[in-house]
Amino acid sequence: MHIDILTIFPDMFEGVFSHSILKRAQAKGHAEIVLHNIRDYATDKHRKVDDYPFSGEAGMVMMIEPIANCIESLQKIRNYDEIIFLTPDGELFNQKKANRLSILDNIILLCGHYKGIDERIREHFITLEISIGDYVLSGGELAAAVLTDSIVRLIPGVLNDETSALSDSFQDGLLSPPVYTRPAKFRDWEVPPILLSGNDKLIRDWKLQKAIERTQERRPDILNEL
Ligand code: 6GU
Repeated sequence: MHIDILTIFPDMFEGVFSHSILKRAQAKGHAEIVLHNIRDYATDKHRKVDDYPFSGEAGMVMMIEPIANCIESLQKIRNYDEIIFLTPDGELFNQKKANRLSILDNIILLCGHYKGIDERIREHFITLEISIGDYVLSGGELAAAVLTDSIVRLIPGVLNDETSALSDSFQDGLLSPPVYTRPAKFRDWEVPPILLSGNDKLIRDWKLQKAIERTQERRPDILNEL
């Protein structure tokens, strides 16, 4: 999968993509993540990317030209399955949407800033608008990093058996059950004895039971979603 990220703060992504699963996914060729500085596509000599809104309210608006130039130059090289704008007024992101996006070949993630971006970008280029939750971030960068992580880890071949996404919270519509490791007893806090029983069937039933209980307690809203 090829992911182009358009941002005025490419440095914000350093570190996020160079560790753990995202690093390995790129090293193994499953994901190619390329950062593009929108400022490099500005047309004036000051490399301006924002301007005052026509409607007169406070705050700057990201200009259409640098973003349009950037998207159109990328479109000369690839056909994009989705051109996604990260915005708090987008569709709420969830695991189901991560699954759907993880099977695409080419996507663009556009990170907004200031008071927003010129609406004509949204009308003429954007195919999908996503929010990662009901709170406001200073810009789309952190949201784009969240989206990228959640999608890339689902690309077939990225995770091995040990890190399998199949047992993730949400993947089967349930939160994950609790997990334990050695020692079996710490102070007088013991691991549930069933987990030490060696009985696979009992352990599977216990895990499912705990997953259901945890979901009922914490997220009854997702129980009947699937
Ligand atoms: Cl995608 N962007 C911003 N700026 N804030 C957000 C968000 C996105 N999702 C939740 N809050």
